[in-house]
Amino acid sequence: MTQLPGLLDTEAIRKDFPILDRVLHDGKRLVYLDNAATSQTPRQVIDVLSEYYEQHNANVHRGVHVLAEEATALYEGARDKVAAFINAPSRDEVIFTKNASESLNLVANMLGWADEPYRVDRDTEIVITEMEHHSNIVPWQLLSQRTGAKLKWFGLTDDGRLDLSNIEEVITEKTKIVSFVLVSNILGTLNPVEAIVRRAQEVGALVLIDASQAAPHMVLDVQALQADFVAFTGHKMCGPTGIGVLWGRQELLEDLPPFLGGGEMIETVSMNSSTYAPAPHKFEAGTPPIAQAVGLGAAVDYLSSIGMENIARHEHAITEYAVRRLQEVPDLRIIGPVTAEDRGAAISFVLGDIHPHDVGQVLDEQGIAVRVGHHCARPVCLRYGIPATTRASFYLYSTPAEVDALVEGLEHVRNFFG
Ligand code: ALA
Repeated sequence: MTQLPGLLDTEAIRKDFPILDRVLHDGKRLVYLDNAATSQTPRQVIDVLSEYYEQHNANVHRGVHVLAEEATALYEGARDKVAAFINAPSRDEVIFTKNASESLNLVANMLGWADEPYRVDRDTEIVITEMEHHSNIVPWQLLSQRTGAKLKWFGLTDDGRLDLSNIEEVITEKTKIVSFVLVSNILGTLNPVEAIVRRAQEVGALVLIDASQAAPHMVLDVQALQADFVAFTGHKMCGPTGIGVLWGRQELLEDLPPFLGGGEMIETVSMNSSTYAPAPHKFEAGTPPIAQAVGLGAAVDYLSSIGMENIARHEHAITEYAVRRLQEVPDLRIIGPVTAEDRGAAISFVLGDIHPHDVGQVLDEQGIAVRVGHHCARPVCLRYGIPATTRASFYLYSTPAEVDALVEGLEHVRNFFG
């Protein structure tokens, strides 16, 4: 068995994930390499979710009965856990949403309705990058179309990194917000936050970081990032679907207007006007995703018990091994950085002229789950002149043997279409 320095005890960890024991077609054991889309859920999180529904289920912040108080304590307890996990200065800076897309859309809409000095209008600019997920492109296109603000972006280098050579022309005195991904879901690239934040601060622009592919895999310290907003989602970090997070600096959350109106987000309502609850509740209209937040709290406990530094070290070792082994496959071209430096554990590639959908299907027949397509980052495929990629993405339970299985699977694909 291949041993690499820095690996976690995956034999023990895998026992926490019942789904990894699944046996698929023809007795083939599941090799789950689609973690950038959704990670698997450990028993510790499943148990907390079951206990929530079996013992505590009720609406939050409303009832005076025991269950309502328990549900409220669990929901607000999850906020404390998330705040500690990302080193937020205050728990009130953690807003629960349904996913990262909603978190990103929320910021775009806060700015869309804001007064000076945050107002986005035809005299201002919005900056993103060419490697964004559609969820960090479309909300800004909508805002640009509605306000007349100009949408600008950083391009990409041939080796899958951000081209910041023109940073002073892209981020200017007119820039209101710079919104970029910390780790690309398609290229795997880890972006240089400091350079971008420094330039944004120079011109007084706000910074929003999409940390969906970072929060599950590395220490995420919102204070160290020095951004104004950070968005991520629960289902890629061992939590359930239906729960996302937007962290924002307290002064901004106080100043910026709400987007969705409804129950829970108000202080008082009359027929003519309303006043709003303080953040985070101002941004959490309606019944929130209660069980999902509680599940995310359990996921944060689980990841913390293993240690985010240890998880990052494990994934770095697996990524280094995978990048090396994949390059041994004839005709395989990695789309993105070809070293493990400054990159995450999502690796996209094309295999000769075999369509990624065919690659994915033949791998699936061998029990290997990967994602194929444009990964909701179509501009990246356009940039590199390809219709789609096959993407293998690893997590804390991934093993070198699974990398070997992928490489063998790809040999099989080549023979099949050869
Ligand atoms: N954003 C998810 C992915 O990259 C769905 O697969």
